[in-house]
Amino acid sequence: MLINNRLKEVGRLIDENASFLDVGCDHAFLDIYLAQDRKRQFKKIVASDNKKGPLEQAQNNINQHKLKNKIELRLGNGLDIYTEDIDTVVISGMGGRNMIGIFKNHQDYLKTIQTIVLSPNNYQSDVKKYLVSVGYEITDEVLIKDGKYVYQIIKFKKGKAKYNKREYFFGPLLLQKKDKLFREYYTRELKSREIILELLPKGFNYRKLKLKKEINLIKKEL
Ligand SMILES: C[S@@+](CC[C@H](N)C(=O)[O-])C[C@H]1O[C@@H](n2cnc3c(N)ncnc32)[C@H](O)[C@@H]1O
Repeated sequence: MLINNRLKEVGRLIDENASFLDVGCDHAFLDIYLAQDRKRQFKKIVASDNKKGPLEQAQNNINQHKLKNKIELRLGNGLDIYTEDIDTVVISGMGGRNMIGIFKNHQDYLKTIQTIVLSPNNYQSDVKKYLVSVGYEITDEVLIKDGKYVYQIIKFKKGKAKYNKREYFFGPLLLQKKDKLFREYYTRELKSREIILELLPKGFNYRKLKLKKEINLIKKEL
């Protein structure tokens, strides 16, 4: 199965031999791609979604690739369908606040979840702050270009870590690499904040102040 660069990179960050749950699998392209990987084996692959439509599509795709015995499908919201034999949770292509909500709803499961791989569409630093606050550290952080856009993918493992404001904002490991994509990604982030600031009507003073602070922070870093 051919998949896009973003999903490929999400897959790369999942450890060999992991028992993983893909929350919000949609078409299950990631799970099919990994089930077909000849170089890496996974103990268990569970693909889930909270909507019947995507899950039916996933089932068709899995059947078509004859992978019924390699990928288990579960219908349910977030971690409602989590079982303790799963050590890795993967969520990609969702908003960051939705992701935080998914973990907050089932904090008890964090005891057995060793690894988390996320690609949030937004609120990345809030996601990092939350997961660090409940006992994870960032072990990998990647920017990947797919079509016009650059995406952030973050890997967390159980552990203790302390990051400062700047590290939470830009990503501690992304700051260390500070490659070409870093520039491209944060130039876009800067522009979008400048546009929002311009469009905000009178009032919204707290929002404006926050945007101005972030704009200055990005300008200083670029
Ligand atoms: C944009 S798709 C992303 C699909 C795939 N993970 C990717 O990265 O390309 C988001 C999927 O997440 C599902 N979803 C959204 N909120 C969810 C939740 N709380 N629990 C499970 N699935 C959810 C949606 O139904 C949708 O299929």
